[in-house]
Amino acid sequence: MTTKAIEKVRVSFVVNGRPVTVETAPHRTLLEVLRDDLDLTGTKEGCGTGDCGACTVHLDGEAVCSCLVLAPEVDGREVVTIEGVAEDGRLHPLQEAFIELGGLQCGFCTPGFIMTALAFLNKNPDPTEAEVREGIAGNLCRCTGYDKIVKAILAASDRMEAER
Ligand code: FES
Ligand code: FES
Repeated sequence: MTTKAIEKVRVSFVVNGRPVTVETAPHRTLLEVLRDDLDLTGTKEGCGTGDCGACTVHLDGEAVCSCLVLAPEVDGREVVTIEGVAEDGRLHPLQEAFIELGGLQCGFCTPGFIMTALAFLNKNPDPTEAEVREGIAGNLCRCTGYDKIVKAILAASDRMEAER
């Protein structure tokens, strides 16, 4: 019996401001392409089924689970990963707040939280605590109990406001 090779597709997109083109089997996910083909391993795989948020990236400015996006879907679009958040060697205020206020322990969930929180704060620059909790409801953390994460996001919103 012969097995037919899966035809590859060419996908071109911009990741963290850099144009890239990959040849990939069409069933592979954005998460796999980012980690395995582009070596952007800051984006984590937790569940692989859209339930934990560890794989969150921005696709055209919206937070998405990259494990649920097929690689061909990102053709011609713009992706930002955790590697694209710091600017000119300076951590983003959100990253600084997570570190200072203990929003991470093992750190596995942190890139996903940062990307979710960043997209959330871009739309809701001055949120209440309840709004923050709702905004990060799709991200799971096994370590922190969420309080420190919420405090970090609220502190970051103040700092981002002050920098505007
Ligand atoms: S790895 Fe994508 S949501 Fe869990
Ligand atoms: S810091 Fe460990 S899972 Fe969130």
